[in-house]
Amino acid sequence: MIKPVIAANWKMHKTVREAVAFAAVIKEKLGNLGDRSVVIAPPFTALSQVAEIIKDSMIDLAAQNVHDKAEGPYTGEISGKMLADIGCNYVIVGHSERRILFGETDGFINSKILSCVQFGLKPIFCVGETLPERKAEKTFIVIERQIKEGLKNLSDGDIRSVVCAYEPVWAIGTGQTAAPQQAQEVHAFIRGVMGKIFGRKIPNTIPILYGGSVNHHNIRSLMAQPDVNGALVGGASLDIENFTKVVQF
Ligand code: 13P
Repeated sequence: MIKPVIAANWKMHKTVREAVAFAAVIKEKLGNLGDRSVVIAPPFTALSQVAEIIKDSMIDLAAQNVHDKAEGPYTGEISGKMLADIGCNYVIVGHSERRILFGETDGFINSKILSCVQFGLKPIFCVGETLPERKAEKTFIVIERQIKEGLKNLSDGDIRSVVCAYEPVWAIGTGQTAAPQQAQEVHAFIRGVMGKIFGRKIPNTIPILYGGSVNHHNIRSLMAQPDVNGALVGGASLDIENFTKVVQF
């Protein structure tokens, strides 16, 4: 049984003051989570201070991005070494907004994932097809390529720290969630592809989250699917009441 993971991706939202206030309230509200993991991914500017607030709680901290090198002349970038240093546990890697808006390739995403595991960070590795790709019935081809390229050269030990997130691009921020059966179909496929790479046993331990217009109305039906092990939540994670309801689905 994989422990459910509910992760909040705040994207480019919240000042430090807002992030800290949210973290303090959510920590009180959620208390001892026991049977589920909660992860919040504030913007870089708020990471250190949110880390302080949640350090003695069950909530884990994620960064929204990372560079693949440990240090060097990369103006404006943040490394896995730096994120581990401030108490981050997870990093979102391969989000479609980074792939599409910032031109991140499968190869770069793979280097980032390798760097994460080197510094003891768990990558939340995002994959997903665009609407034209789905319409052209290329969903499985795209996902298989993203998984194979993104997870290249990971050892059996490395893969155990990976969390995967299926985020169909057409469902992100659109209010159009994938139907639970649509999500299940792709999640099962992802597990199958990982099985081909790493052997059948390992993928059964890897959480595969669904992301794309998740809210407290649809979370239960998504979580009822056998291969949906959690959610990566954007818009609905920005409001304390909404996010609490999603976590307590
Ligand atoms: P929304 O929940 O706003 O659709 O965003 C999903 C997402 O991109 C999470 O990473």
